[in-house]
Amino acid sequence: MDGSQPSAEMIHWFHSHAFADGETTQGDKPAETLRKEAEVIFRHPVAGKRVLDIGAWDGFFSFEAERRGAARVLATDHFCWSGDGWGTKAGFDYAHAKLGSRVETLDIDVPQISRDTVGTFDVVLFLGVLYHVKDPFSCLERVASVTGEMLVLETETALDVLPWPVMRYYEGAELNNDPTNFWAPNQRALKAMLRDIGFRRFEIVTHPLLKPNWKRTRVVMHAWR
Ligand SMILES: C[S@@+](CC[C@H](N)C(=O)[O-])C[C@H]1O[C@@H](n2cnc3c(N)ncnc32)[C@H](O)[C@@H]1O
Repeated sequence: MDGSQPSAEMIHWFHSHAFADGETTQGDKPAETLRKEAEVIFRHPVAGKRVLDIGAWDGFFSFEAERRGAARVLATDHFCWSGDGWGTKAGFDYAHAKLGSRVETLDIDVPQISRDTVGTFDVVLFLGVLYHVKDPFSCLERVASVTGEMLVLETETALDVLPWPVMRYYEGAELNNDPTNFWAPNQRALKAMLRDIGFRRFEIVTHPLLKPNWKRTRVVMHAWR
């Protein structure tokens, strides 16, 4: 640490990190949740791959991709780094310094993601972001445009019992008491949208800790062109 950064206690952590010297951070997402999510998210290896993590916040999954041998990792965010969101980039920077990480960063909002602004990546992580955007389809188009091989999408889904591709809209703070949550597609709609933008093969795993019900589920989807 260079003294110009806030101490770990002053940071609102979203991710719980555990560093080699025994220091831990207590984030909104417990360490056990992150560990179980990582097992599913990285079930297809990223070693040697170029990885883009869109909406990285405190960077747990960016650093995990690096730890698992990714050749290059770019972490992006804006809402929680310097926008109207709930956090700052301080947690990411703290963990980055502490880990001696080489993960690169770019402060960019999801609507600005394109080949021109970030380039293309073998693997794109789009975790916990889709339900926050007002225009999920055009957002997926942007994400797809920078995905070379495999997209890893973690999201809420809704109404999976219905036999049509549909999305549910959440008024106000209806979903998780959070007014920045707007849309949850069902799994049929997720696949339909991704097929329309060039993906052909899908694997969907329900969240390792959250129990699905007829109204809502949380899934990790791997998609390939
Ligand atoms: C629930 S956090 C997920 C963080 C991390 N990817 C994970 O899965 O643990 C949502 C992330 O989406 C980002 N985001 C991007 N656009 C957003 C928007 N319009 N509203 C809310 N969050 C947004 C936030 O900055 C934040 O990093």
